[in-house]
Amino acid sequence: MAMFNNNWTGFLSFFVFLLLAVPSDAFPKRKGNGNNAATGNTGAAKGNGAAKGAAAGAATGAAAAGGISLATDGSTILDKTVTINGLEIRYKISAPADQFTAESGVTGAAATAGANGTAGLNVLLHGDGGQSFFDFPNQDVQNNLMGVVVLAPDPNLFWGGGSGLDRTDGVAHSAAVNTLIQQQLSQDVAFDPANVFFTGVSGGSLMLSGFFVPAFGAQYQTGVELNCGALSPQVPVVDAATMIANTKIHFQSTQDELALLQDAIPQAVAAYEKLATGAGLDAATIGTLQTVDNTPNGGGHCGFDGKGFVSGVQLMATNYANVMGDNASGDIAGIGNVLTVSFNLRTLICTITNFRKERGWKRECSILKCNLNQGRTRYNIFLIYAMMIKLLFLLVYLAF
Ligand SMILES: *[C@@H]1O[C@H](CO)[C@@H](O)[C@H](O)[C@H]1NC(C)=O
Ligand SMILES: *[C@@H]1O[C@H](CO)[C@@H](O)[C@H](O)[C@H]1NC(C)=O
Repeated sequence: MAMFNNNWTGFLSFFVFLLLAVPSDAFPKRKGNGNNAATGNTGAAKGNGAAKGAAAGAATGAAAAGGISLATDGSTILDKTVTINGLEIRYKISAPADQFTAESGVTGAAATAGANGTAGLNVLLHGDGGQSFFDFPNQDVQNNLMGVVVLAPDPNLFWGGGSGLDRTDGVAHSAAVNTLIQQQLSQDVAFDPANVFFTGVSGGSLMLSGFFVPAFGAQYQTGVELNCGALSPQVPVVDAATMIANTKIHFQSTQDELALLQDAIPQAVAAYEKLATGAGLDAATIGTLQTVDNTPNGGGHCGFDGKGFVSGVQLMATNYANVMGDNASGDIAGIGNVLTVSFNLRTLICTITNFRKERGWKRECSILKCNLNQGRTRYNIFLIYAMMIKLLFLLVYLAF
């Protein structure tokens, strides 16, 4: 009888353990091949490919600088170059024709220069080489936001200049972008200056998170989608409490990002979370304002659709409202829900290592190239408890 009871307890424990263990393996939305180094290399190779493609695009695009064309949703695209603080800034605006000012030269323009409009802006900063400036993936008016893309004033078309994670002109480039928005754009198009959102792609994300948001985020108090790149603030954060409490930040990356980003993005996630805790925000608020996803796999750097750079960036741009909108669902066809945690074993492992790191122990997460969801406190606590319960049941099972 005692034997039977023991077996029964053991069986029950094992059954409950299995139940709890199931989400670890059932929830990953993408199957990894289990070889981080290999996928990392693939990602890097694809990144290089994208950079080469972008360089070619730059030459084509430069030749076609200026002018007025039609956007995919029937809006009008104005392509213009101005000089700001001695920097040549080329930009494109996509908006309904009547929202342009008479000075813009757009047929059907009906707005007065300097007057506010009703729609906001989604300002996109491209990655190294400028691919997304030429593609203009955010050209459809969406979520009451008109698309703007700006070309980096840099010989290599790197936002923030420099190279890699060292963006030596980040301060100057960010100031130019801010001046463009504050002083130039209202001469071209009527928009709501209280509703200006941002999108970064790779190098553009480095500049936004490293320089622009710290310097100017408190002025905008909207949202920033950081695709496939992020840096911890590289400059003092102006009015940090206001910025962090009123800025929605989504970090989107893939599991096979470029090697240098695998380290930089989690650091940026942690730095922004620290700003929020420093400003006294509670975990639930931070979890709403700052979200992280890196479930896409197999598409390399920025390959959010599991396929490649251009289509991956387009997928995120098309779904901007689903991520940054007022009541964003987070659902992106082809990725899943990017605003909720993906509950996989790698997250668990890294949650534990991140937990240790926070207590001053050896940092291990970047070595494991872990899931970026490690950054979210509420998830961390939940996952640590889940792990503890699992271990408890495993011990009970083994004891019998
Ligand atoms: C335009 O909108 C901004 C922000 O809402 C506001 O501060 C400003 O007064 C408005 N300007 C005009 C001319 O209405
Ligand atoms: C979001 O939800 C709130 C509260 O339910 C609602 O008042 C608001 O209109 C919604 N916004 C959008 C853009 O749907």
